[in-house]
Amino acid sequence: MNGRRRLGVAVAGFGWMGRVHTQAYARVLHHFPQLPVHPVLVAVADDAPDLAAEAAGRFGFATATRDWRDLAADPRVEAVSITAPNFLHREIGVGLARAGRHIWIEKPVGLTGADARAVAQAVTTAGVQATVGFNYRNAPAVATARQLIADGELGLVTHARFRLFSDYAADPDSALTWRYQREQGGSGVLGDLASHGVDLVRYLLGEIESLVADTAVFLTGRGNEDYVSSQLRLASGARVVLEASRIAVGAQNSYGFDVHGTRGAVFWDFRRMNELGVSVGTAHRNVYTGPGHGEYAAFQPVPANAMGYDDLKVIEAYHFLRSIADGTPYGATLEDAVRAAAVLDAMTRSAQSRTWITV
Ligand SMILES: NC(=O)c1ccc[n+]([C@@H]2O[C@H](COP(=O)([O-])OP(=O)(O)OC[C@H]3O[C@@H](n4cnc5c(N)ncnc54)[C@H](O)[C@@H]3O)[C@@H](O)[C@H]2O)c1
Repeated sequence: MNGRRRLGVAVAGFGWMGRVHTQAYARVLHHFPQLPVHPVLVAVADDAPDLAAEAAGRFGFATATRDWRDLAADPRVEAVSITAPNFLHREIGVGLARAGRHIWIEKPVGLTGADARAVAQAVTTAGVQATVGFNYRNAPAVATARQLIADGELGLVTHARFRLFSDYAADPDSALTWRYQREQGGSGVLGDLASHGVDLVRYLLGEIESLVADTAVFLTGRGNEDYVSSQLRLASGARVVLEASRIAVGAQNSYGFDVHGTRGAVFWDFRRMNELGVSVGTAHRNVYTGPGHGEYAAFQPVPANAMGYDDLKVIEAYHFLRSIADGTPYGATLEDAVRAAAVLDAMTRSAQSRTWITV
Protein backbone atom coordinates (compact mmCIF):
# COMPACT_ATOMS: atom_id res chain seq x y z
CA MET A 1 0.00 0.00 0.00
CA ASN A 2 1.66 3.18 -1.23
CA GLY A 3 4.95 1.27 -1.16
CA ARG A 4 4.55 0.48 2.52
CA ARG A 5 4.59 -3.02 3.88
CA ARG A 6 1.16 -4.19 5.02
CA LEU A 7 1.14 -5.15 8.71
CA GLY A 8 -1.81 -7.10 10.09
CA VAL A 9 -2.90 -5.83 13.51
CA ALA A 10 -5.45 -7.09 16.01
CA VAL A 11 -6.99 -5.85 19.25
CA ALA A 12 -7.62 -8.06 22.30
CA GLY A 13 -10.28 -6.47 24.56
CA PHE A 14 -12.51 -3.86 22.95
CA GLY A 15 -13.50 -1.55 25.79
CA TRP A 16 -12.31 2.03 26.14
CA MET A 17 -8.67 1.38 25.38
CA GLY A 18 -9.45 -1.11 22.60
CA ARG A 19 -11.33 1.61 20.78
CA VAL A 20 -8.61 4.22 21.37
CA HIS A 21 -5.87 1.87 20.07
CA THR A 22 -7.99 1.05 17.01
CA GLN A 23 -8.54 4.71 16.21
CA ALA A 24 -4.80 5.29 16.63
CA TYR A 25 -4.01 2.59 14.05
CA ALA A 26 -6.53 4.20 11.70
CA ARG A 27 -4.94 7.66 12.09
CA VAL A 28 -1.26 6.92 12.49
CA LEU A 29 -0.30 7.29 8.82
CA HIS A 30 -2.17 10.60 8.60
CA HIS A 31 0.30 12.01 11.09
CA PHE A 32 3.42 9.89 10.53
CA PRO A 33 3.64 9.23 6.78
CA GLN A 34 7.31 8.32 7.19
CA LEU A 35 6.25 4.96 8.68
CA PRO A 36 7.29 2.17 6.30
CA VAL A 37 4.43 -0.09 7.45
CA HIS A 38 0.70 0.26 6.90
CA PRO A 39 -1.40 -1.21 9.75
CA VAL A 40 -4.41 -3.18 8.54
CA LEU A 41 -7.21 -4.07 11.00
CA VAL A 42 -7.33 -7.86 10.69
CA ALA A 43 -9.07 -9.09 13.83
CA VAL A 44 -10.71 -8.03 17.09
CA ALA A 45 -11.31 -10.25 20.13
CA ASP A 46 -13.62 -9.57 23.07
CA ASP A 47 -15.35 -12.17 25.18
CA ALA A 48 -18.47 -10.07 25.76
CA PRO A 49 -21.28 -11.37 23.53
CA ASP A 50 -21.56 -9.48 20.20
CA LEU A 51 -19.04 -6.81 21.23
CA ALA A 52 -16.27 -7.92 18.85
CA ALA A 53 -18.69 -8.38 15.95
CA GLU A 54 -20.13 -4.93 16.56
CA ALA A 55 -16.62 -3.43 16.71
CA ALA A 56 -15.64 -5.18 13.48
CA GLY A 57 -18.64 -3.73 11.68
CA ARG A 58 -18.07 -0.26 13.02
CA PHE A 59 -14.28 0.02 12.75
CA GLY A 60 -13.54 -2.29 9.81
CA PHE A 61 -11.77 -5.33 11.29
CA ALA A 62 -11.88 -8.25 8.84
CA THR A 63 -12.64 -10.81 11.56
CA ALA A 64 -14.29 -10.87 15.00
CA THR A 65 -13.87 -13.50 17.71
CA ARG A 66 -14.68 -13.98 21.39
CA ASP A 67 -11.40 -15.81 22.07
CA TRP A 68 -8.05 -13.95 22.01
CA ARG A 69 -6.31 -17.29 21.27
CA ASP A 70 -7.69 -17.07 17.75
CA LEU A 71 -5.38 -14.06 17.25
CA ALA A 72 -2.34 -16.20 18.09
CA ALA A 73 -3.45 -18.79 15.53
CA ASP A 74 -4.26 -16.34 12.73
CA PRO A 75 -1.28 -16.02 10.34
CA ARG A 76 -2.54 -12.62 9.13
CA VAL A 77 -2.05 -11.13 12.60
CA GLU A 78 1.49 -9.81 13.17
CA ALA A 79 0.90 -7.34 16.00
CA VAL A 80 -1.70 -7.14 18.76
CA SER A 81 -2.96 -4.45 21.11
CA ILE A 82 -3.60 -5.98 24.53
CA THR A 83 -6.34 -3.80 25.97
CA ALA A 84 -8.09 -6.32 28.19
CA PRO A 85 -8.38 -5.97 32.00
CA ASN A 86 -5.20 -6.17 34.08
CA PHE A 87 -5.63 -9.79 35.24
CA LEU A 88 -5.44 -10.94 31.60
CA HIS A 89 -2.28 -9.03 30.64
CA ARG A 90 0.06 -11.84 31.68
CA GLU A 91 -1.84 -14.69 30.04
CA ILE A 92 -2.51 -12.82 26.79
CA GLY A 93 0.89 -11.07 26.71
CA VAL A 94 2.90 -14.25 27.25
CA GLY A 95 0.64 -16.23 24.90
CA LEU A 96 0.90 -13.79 22.02
CA ALA A 97 4.64 -13.14 22.45
CA ARG A 98 5.30 -16.89 22.43
CA ALA A 99 3.25 -17.08 19.24
CA GLY A 100 5.67 -14.53 17.73
CA ARG A 101 3.34 -11.51 17.78
CA HIS A 102 4.55 -7.98 18.55
CA ILE A 103 2.50 -6.49 21.38
CA TRP A 104 1.28 -3.02 22.31
CA ILE A 105 0.15 -3.67 25.87
CA GLU A 106 -1.70 -1.41 28.26
CA LYS A 107 -0.30 -0.42 31.63
CA PRO A 108 0.22 -1.59 34.30
CA VAL A 109 1.06 -4.93 32.54
CA GLY A 110 -0.54 -7.40 34.95
CA LEU A 111 -1.36 -7.32 38.62
CA THR A 112 2.17 -7.38 40.07
CA GLY A 113 5.84 -7.03 39.24
CA ALA A 114 5.99 -10.79 38.68
CA ASP A 115 3.35 -10.50 35.95
CA ALA A 116 5.19 -7.67 34.20
CA ARG A 117 8.46 -9.62 34.39
CA ALA A 118 6.80 -12.72 32.90
CA VAL A 119 5.55 -10.74 29.90
CA ALA A 120 8.94 -9.04 29.50
CA GLN A 121 10.70 -12.41 29.61
CA ALA A 122 8.39 -13.88 26.95
CA VAL A 123 8.94 -10.85 24.70
CA THR A 124 12.73 -11.08 25.06
CA THR A 125 12.76 -14.83 24.41
CA ALA A 126 10.55 -14.48 21.35
CA GLY A 127 12.53 -11.52 20.01
CA VAL A 128 9.37 -9.49 19.32
CA GLN A 129 8.78 -5.78 19.91
CA ALA A 130 6.66 -4.43 22.76
CA THR A 131 5.32 -0.97 23.59
CA VAL A 132 3.53 -0.06 26.84
CA GLY A 133 0.62 2.39 27.24
CA PHE A 134 2.35 5.02 29.37
CA ASN A 135 0.81 7.70 27.15
CA TYR A 136 1.32 10.80 29.30
CA ARG A 137 5.04 10.84 28.50
CA ASN A 138 4.02 11.42 24.86
CA ALA A 139 2.52 14.84 25.59
CA PRO A 140 4.72 17.46 23.87
CA ALA A 141 4.77 19.57 27.06
CA VAL A 142 6.08 16.58 29.03
CA ALA A 143 8.75 15.91 26.40
CA THR A 144 9.71 19.60 26.66
CA ALA A 145 9.91 19.42 30.45
CA ARG A 146 12.19 16.41 30.14
CA GLN A 147 14.44 18.27 27.71
CA LEU A 148 14.65 21.35 29.96
CA ILE A 149 15.56 19.16 32.94
CA ALA A 150 18.13 17.16 30.95
CA ASP A 151 19.68 20.40 29.61
CA GLY A 152 20.14 21.65 33.19
CA GLU A 153 17.80 24.63 32.67
CA LEU A 154 16.35 24.06 36.16
CA GLY A 155 19.75 23.51 37.74
CA LEU A 156 19.91 20.46 40.00
CA VAL A 157 16.45 19.00 40.60
CA THR A 158 15.87 19.06 44.34
CA HIS A 159 12.24 18.03 44.85
CA ALA A 160 9.02 17.42 42.97
CA ARG A 161 5.33 16.58 43.37
CA PHE A 162 3.37 14.26 41.10
CA ARG A 163 -0.41 14.13 41.46
CA LEU A 164 -2.96 11.84 39.84
CA PHE A 165 -6.38 12.71 41.19
CA SER A 166 -9.61 11.54 39.64
CA ASP A 167 -13.14 10.91 40.81
CA TYR A 168 -14.19 8.13 38.43
CA ALA A 169 -14.62 5.85 41.47
CA ALA A 170 -16.02 8.40 43.91
CA ASP A 171 -19.62 7.23 43.65
CA PRO A 172 -20.11 4.47 46.26
CA ASP A 173 -23.04 3.10 44.23
CA SER A 174 -21.13 2.74 40.95
CA ALA A 175 -20.82 -0.77 39.44
CA LEU A 176 -18.10 -2.93 40.97
CA THR A 177 -16.31 -3.80 37.72
CA TRP A 178 -12.98 -5.67 37.36
CA ARG A 179 -11.16 -2.51 38.44
CA TYR A 180 -12.35 -2.85 42.06
CA GLN A 181 -11.38 -6.48 42.66
CA ARG A 182 -7.86 -7.42 43.70
CA GLU A 183 -7.85 -10.66 41.64
CA GLN A 184 -8.80 -8.76 38.47
CA GLY A 185 -7.70 -5.17 38.97
CA GLY A 186 -4.67 -5.72 41.22
CA SER A 187 -3.75 -2.88 43.55
CA GLY A 188 -6.55 -0.51 42.52
CA VAL A 189 -5.45 3.06 42.08
CA LEU A 190 -1.79 2.01 42.23
CA GLY A 191 -1.91 0.16 38.91
CA ASP A 192 -4.57 2.43 37.50
CA LEU A 193 -3.16 5.91 38.14
CA ALA A 194 0.00 5.75 40.28
CA SER A 195 1.63 3.61 37.55
CA HIS A 196 1.40 6.60 35.18
CA GLY A 197 2.89 8.81 37.91
CA VAL A 198 5.79 6.44 38.50
CA ASP A 199 6.49 6.33 34.77
CA LEU A 200 6.50 10.14 34.62
CA VAL A 201 8.87 10.36 37.61
CA ARG A 202 11.28 7.93 35.93
CA TYR A 203 10.91 9.55 32.49
CA LEU A 204 11.63 13.05 33.81
CA LEU A 205 13.92 12.49 36.78
CA GLY A 206 15.43 9.00 36.62
CA GLU A 207 15.30 5.91 38.78
CA ILE A 208 13.62 5.57 42.18
CA GLU A 209 15.88 4.11 44.85
CA SER A 210 13.65 3.84 47.92
CA LEU A 211 10.23 4.86 49.16
CA VAL A 212 7.72 4.94 51.95
CA ALA A 213 4.00 4.78 51.20
CA ASP A 214 0.55 4.74 52.74
CA THR A 215 -2.61 3.43 51.11
CA ALA A 216 -6.33 3.45 51.91
CA VAL A 217 -9.59 1.86 50.87
CA PHE A 218 -12.12 4.53 51.75
CA LEU A 219 -15.29 3.14 50.23
CA THR A 220 -16.71 -0.10 51.58
CA GLY A 221 -17.20 -2.94 49.14
CA ARG A 222 -13.98 -2.14 47.32
CA GLY A 223 -11.41 -4.94 47.20
CA ASN A 224 -8.43 -2.73 46.40
CA GLU A 225 -6.89 0.67 47.03
CA ASP A 226 -8.71 3.97 46.47
CA TYR A 227 -5.74 6.12 47.49
CA VAL A 228 -1.96 6.07 47.76
CA SER A 229 0.59 8.64 48.89
CA SER A 230 4.32 8.04 48.72
CA GLN A 231 7.60 9.76 49.38
CA LEU A 232 10.33 8.73 46.95
CA ARG A 233 14.09 9.08 47.08
CA LEU A 234 15.63 9.11 43.62
CA ALA A 235 19.06 7.88 42.58
CA SER A 236 19.86 11.53 41.77
CA GLY A 237 19.21 12.51 45.40
CA ALA A 238 15.99 14.34 44.52
CA ARG A 239 12.94 13.88 46.76
CA VAL A 240 9.47 13.30 45.29
CA VAL A 241 5.94 13.24 46.71
CA LEU A 242 3.57 11.12 44.61
CA GLU A 243 -0.12 10.96 45.42
CA ALA A 244 -2.96 9.22 43.56
CA SER A 245 -6.67 9.01 44.27
CA ARG A 246 -9.63 7.63 42.34
CA ILE A 247 -12.19 9.10 44.74
CA ALA A 248 -11.10 12.77 44.76
CA VAL A 249 -14.54 14.32 44.26
CA GLY A 250 -14.32 17.27 41.89
CA ALA A 251 -10.84 16.40 40.63
CA GLN A 252 -11.56 15.27 37.10
CA ASN A 253 -8.28 13.91 35.75
CA SER A 254 -6.20 16.32 37.77
CA TYR A 255 -2.92 14.76 36.73
CA GLY A 256 0.33 16.63 36.70
CA PHE A 257 3.61 17.59 38.29
CA ASP A 258 5.68 20.41 39.76
CA VAL A 259 9.43 19.87 39.45
CA HIS A 260 11.75 22.19 41.36
CA GLY A 261 15.47 22.70 40.78
CA THR A 262 18.15 24.99 42.14
CA ARG A 263 17.60 27.47 39.26
CA GLY A 264 13.95 27.01 38.29
CA ALA A 265 10.85 24.88 38.04
CA VAL A 266 8.36 23.38 35.57
CA PHE A 267 4.63 22.90 36.11
CA TRP A 268 2.25 20.69 34.11
CA ASP A 269 -1.44 19.85 34.39
CA PHE A 270 -2.94 17.25 32.03
CA ARG A 271 -6.20 19.18 31.84
CA ARG A 272 -4.23 21.91 30.08
CA MET A 273 -1.84 19.44 28.54
CA ASN A 274 -0.60 21.72 25.78
CA GLU A 275 0.82 24.24 28.24
CA LEU A 276 3.98 24.06 30.32
CA GLY A 277 4.71 26.49 33.11
CA VAL A 278 8.42 27.35 33.15
CA SER A 279 10.06 29.41 35.87
CA VAL A 280 13.71 30.29 35.72
CA GLY A 281 14.85 32.43 38.61
CA THR A 282 12.01 34.87 39.24
CA ALA A 283 10.74 34.94 35.63
CA HIS A 284 7.69 32.78 34.93
CA ARG A 285 6.27 32.05 31.49
CA ASN A 286 3.49 29.89 30.22
CA VAL A 287 4.72 28.03 27.15
CA TYR A 288 2.10 26.90 24.63
CA THR A 289 3.43 23.84 22.85
CA GLY A 290 4.10 24.04 19.12
CA PRO A 291 6.25 22.55 16.38
CA GLY A 292 9.62 21.65 17.93
CA HIS A 293 8.03 20.37 21.15
CA GLY A 294 7.96 16.56 21.18
CA GLU A 295 5.86 15.20 18.29
CA TYR A 296 3.61 18.29 18.06
CA ALA A 297 4.64 19.01 14.46
CA ALA A 298 3.01 15.75 13.35
CA PHE A 299 -0.37 17.25 14.31
CA GLN A 300 -0.40 21.00 13.72
CA PRO A 301 1.84 23.50 11.87
CA VAL A 302 1.48 26.37 14.36
CA PRO A 303 1.69 26.63 18.18
CA ALA A 304 -1.28 26.54 20.58
CA ASN A 305 -3.62 24.44 18.42
CA ALA A 306 -4.57 22.09 21.25
CA MET A 307 -3.86 18.39 20.94
CA GLY A 308 -5.95 15.85 22.88
CA TYR A 309 -5.68 12.55 24.73
CA ASP A 310 -6.28 10.42 21.62
CA ASP A 311 -3.32 12.10 19.92
CA LEU A 312 -1.04 10.74 22.67
CA LYS A 313 -2.14 7.25 21.61
CA VAL A 314 -1.44 8.05 17.94
CA ILE A 315 2.13 8.91 18.99
CA GLU A 316 2.27 5.61 20.90
CA ALA A 317 1.03 3.71 17.82
CA TYR A 318 3.80 5.40 15.84
CA HIS A 319 6.42 4.28 18.38
CA PHE A 320 5.05 0.71 18.30
CA LEU A 321 4.93 0.39 14.51
CA ARG A 322 8.29 2.07 14.10
CA SER A 323 9.76 -0.41 16.61
CA ILE A 324 8.46 -3.26 14.47
CA ALA A 325 9.69 -1.72 11.22
CA ASP A 326 13.17 -0.95 12.57
CA GLY A 327 13.52 -3.93 14.91
CA THR A 328 14.48 -1.64 17.79
CA PRO A 329 12.29 -0.18 20.58
CA TYR A 330 10.94 3.39 20.70
CA GLY A 331 8.85 4.91 23.48
CA ALA A 332 7.86 3.15 26.71
CA THR A 333 8.99 -0.49 26.79
CA LEU A 334 8.35 -3.51 29.00
CA GLU A 335 11.53 -2.61 30.86
CA ASP A 336 9.72 0.58 31.88
CA ALA A 337 6.66 -1.45 32.90
CA VAL A 338 8.77 -3.86 34.95
CA ARG A 339 10.47 -0.99 36.79
CA ALA A 340 7.18 0.82 37.41
CA ALA A 341 5.58 -2.40 38.69
CA ALA A 342 8.51 -2.96 41.08
CA VAL A 343 7.91 0.52 42.50
CA LEU A 344 4.17 -0.20 42.92
CA ASP A 345 4.96 -3.51 44.66
CA ALA A 346 7.34 -1.62 46.97
CA MET A 347 4.55 0.88 47.77
CA THR A 348 2.25 -1.98 48.75
CA ARG A 349 4.93 -3.58 50.95
CA SER A 350 5.77 -0.25 52.55
CA ALA A 351 2.12 0.46 53.35
CA GLN A 352 1.81 -2.98 54.97
CA SER A 353 5.04 -2.78 56.97
CA ARG A 354 4.94 0.98 57.60
CA THR A 355 8.63 1.18 56.70
CA TRP A 356 10.95 2.56 54.02
CA ILE A 357 11.59 0.03 51.24
CA THR A 358 14.53 -0.13 48.85
CA VAL A 359 13.21 -0.67 45.32
N1 LIG B 1 -3.17 4.32 29.20
C1 LIG B 1 -4.27 4.82 29.73
O1 LIG B 1 -4.43 6.02 29.89
C2 LIG B 1 -5.37 3.86 30.12
C3 LIG B 1 -6.68 4.32 30.35
C4 LIG B 1 -7.66 3.41 30.68
C5 LIG B 1 -7.35 2.07 30.78
N2 LIG B 1 -6.06 1.64 30.59
C6 LIG B 1 -5.73 0.20 30.70
O2 LIG B 1 -6.33 -0.47 29.60
C7 LIG B 1 -6.81 -1.74 30.00
C8 LIG B 1 -8.28 -1.84 29.66
O3 LIG B 1 -8.97 -0.83 30.33
P1 LIG B 1 -10.37 -0.25 29.76
O4 LIG B 1 -10.64 1.00 30.50
O5 LIG B 1 -10.34 -0.22 28.28
O6 LIG B 1 -11.34 -1.40 30.28
P2 LIG B 1 -12.80 -1.78 29.76
O7 LIG B 1 -13.45 -2.49 30.88
O8 LIG B 1 -13.44 -0.57 29.14
O9 LIG B 1 -12.52 -2.80 28.55
C9 LIG B 1 -12.00 -4.08 28.75
C10 LIG B 1 -12.56 -4.98 27.64
O10 LIG B 1 -11.92 -6.26 27.74
C11 LIG B 1 -12.91 -7.24 27.48
N3 LIG B 1 -12.52 -8.55 28.02
C12 LIG B 1 -12.67 -9.04 29.28
N4 LIG B 1 -12.22 -10.30 29.34
C13 LIG B 1 -11.76 -10.61 28.10
C14 LIG B 1 -11.17 -11.78 27.52
N5 LIG B 1 -10.96 -12.90 28.24
N6 LIG B 1 -10.82 -11.76 26.22
C15 LIG B 1 -11.04 -10.64 25.48
N7 LIG B 1 -11.59 -9.50 25.96
C16 LIG B 1 -11.94 -9.50 27.25
C17 LIG B 1 -14.17 -6.69 28.14
O11 LIG B 1 -15.34 -7.29 27.62
C18 LIG B 1 -14.06 -5.22 27.77
O12 LIG B 1 -14.71 -4.93 26.56
C19 LIG B 1 -6.49 -1.88 31.50
O13 LIG B 1 -5.34 -2.61 31.65
C20 LIG B 1 -6.28 -0.44 31.96
O14 LIG B 1 -5.34 -0.35 33.02
C21 LIG B 1 -5.09 2.51 30.25
